[in-house]
Amino acid sequence: MSFDDLHKATAQALTGAVDELVAEFEVTPEKLDQLTAHFIEQMEKGLKPTEDKATDKGLPMIPSFVTGTPNGTEKGILLAADLGGTNFRVCSVELHGDHTYTMEQMKSKIPEELLDDENATSEQLFGYLARRTLAFMKKFHPEQIEGGISAKPLRMGFTFSYPVDQTSLNSGTLIRWTKGFKIADTIGRDVVQLYQDELKKNELPMINVVALTNDTVGTFLSHCYASDNTDSMTTGEISEPVIGCIFGTGTNGCYMEEIKNIVKLPADVKKKLLDEGKTHMVVNTEWGSFDNELKVLPTTKYDVDIDQKYSANPGFHLFEKRVSGMYLGEVLRNVLVDLHKRGLIFAQYRTEKQLPHRLQTPFELDSEVLSHIEIDDSTGLRETELSLLQSLRLPTTPSERHEIQRLVRAISRRSAYLAAVPIAAIILKTGTLNKRYHGEVEVGCDGSVIEYYPGFRSMLRHALALSPLGAEGERKIHIKLSKDGSSAGAALCALVA
Ligand code: GLC
Repeated sequence: MSFDDLHKATAQALTGAVDELVAEFEVTPEKLDQLTAHFIEQMEKGLKPTEDKATDKGLPMIPSFVTGTPNGTEKGILLAADLGGTNFRVCSVELHGDHTYTMEQMKSKIPEELLDDENATSEQLFGYLARRTLAFMKKFHPEQIEGGISAKPLRMGFTFSYPVDQTSLNSGTLIRWTKGFKIADTIGRDVVQLYQDELKKNELPMINVVALTNDTVGTFLSHCYASDNTDSMTTGEISEPVIGCIFGTGTNGCYMEEIKNIVKLPADVKKKLLDEGKTHMVVNTEWGSFDNELKVLPTTKYDVDIDQKYSANPGFHLFEKRVSGMYLGEVLRNVLVDLHKRGLIFAQYRTEKQLPHRLQTPFELDSEVLSHIEIDDSTGLRETELSLLQSLRLPTTPSERHEIQRLVRAISRRSAYLAAVPIAAIILKTGTLNKRYHGEVEVGCDGSVIEYYPGFRSMLRHALALSPLGAEGERKIHIKLSKDGSSAGAALCALVA
C-alpha cells in the first residue's frame, strides 16, 4: 500500500469511528420523552423525605425557605457574597425599587490550593472569603466598618452554589461539593456559621449573614425583580417567571413549588408557613444530580471514565457531567485520547505517553476551545488548528480537524438537548402553561454556556419543541439571560430575611 493509500484508509477509518460516536451522542425525541417523564417522577420522589442525604442518589429537591418573589419595587442597599465555580465575589447592591439595581463588586479567583486539596480546611477557605470581604469593605465602604464591634449592623446575603441541606433561610449544611471543590472537612457543616465566624475574626463583626441562597435561586429572584410583568405571589398563582437556572461551570435550576406538595418540610414549619398564608416555596432541584442511578441518561464509556476516574464526586451529579461547561472539553479530550489509542488519529505520536502533555491532563481542555471549533468555517478549519495548537499544543491535519468539529458539535448538541429536559419537566409538572390565559412563561438563566456557547440556546429550544411540550409549548417559553443575577438575588433575599 502506498503512503497515500494508507493515509486515505486511516482517514476513512477515523470518519467511520466518528460516525459511530456522533450516533452515540444523539438524543432522540423518544429519549427526550423518557428523560422528561423520569425527571418528573424524580422530582416527586425528591419532595419526599430521604433517609440519608449524603448517599441518596435521587434528585435533592432542596427547599430554599424563600416563599415569595420580588415584584421590582424593593428598595435598599445590601451586601452580597457569592461563591460559585472558581470565583468569589463580594458586592454591595443598591436596589432602586424600579426593577433596576446597581452594584459595586470585587471578584477574586479562588486559589488553586483551596480548590484542589482534600486536606485544606474549612477555616482556610472561609478565612480566605472573609479576607476578600474585608478588602472589599476597605475599598468601597470604609466608613461602614470604622466602628468595629459597635458599627451599625450590615445585612448580607450569601450565595453558595453547592448542594446544601437548608434548614432555614440563613442556615444549611453542605451535603457534598460539586464542580471540583474537595475540602472534606466542610461536608456536614453549616456554611453560614463558618463564614460568619471568619468574618468576626477578620474585623467584620458588624456583617450579619441573614440569608443563604443557591445561585439558581438568586438568579430566579433577580429575574423576578427585573421583570416588570410579574404577578404577585399573593394571588396564589404561579407568576410568569417560573424557573431560574444556570448553565455554566455547573448546571442547576429552581422553581416555585406549592408548599403543600413539599412533603419533606417538617410538619411544624409547613403549618407555620401555611398559617401565615404562604402558598409556594422556591425549591432548588440540584438537577445536576438527575438520574445518578443512570436509569435513562445516555451514557458513553467516556462519561463513565470521566465520572469514575477523573471527577471529584464519582457517582453524583451525572447529569451535570454530560451538560455543563466544566465537562464538555473533558468529554472531547477523552474521546480524542481513545481515538488515538485505537490508532485512528494523531499518528505522529506512537504511544499515549508521547501525546502532548496537555491532551493527557484531565480538565485541561476548556469548553471555550470547543466554542471556537463549533463555529469555525475558515478554509481548512484554520481557526480550529490555531485553537488546538494554542490550548493543547496539538498539531492536526485538515481531515482530523473536520472530524474533531463533528465531535464537538455532537457533544454540545447532546448537552443542549439534555438541558431542555428539566425545563420541559418542570413546566409540565407545575402545569404552568395552562395556568394563565396566554400561558407564556419566562425562564431566567445565567452561566457561561448559555451566554456564550454558540448555538446552545437555539439547540435547547429545538429540543424543547421535540420534547413532550411540543412546538406549541416551546413557543410560549421565553429564555431570558439574567446576567450576574445570583448576587443581586442574594441581596433580595437578605432584604426580606
Ligand atoms: C452545581 C451545584 C449547584 C449550582 C450549580 C450551578 O451543580 O451543585 O448548587 O447551582 O452547580 O452553579
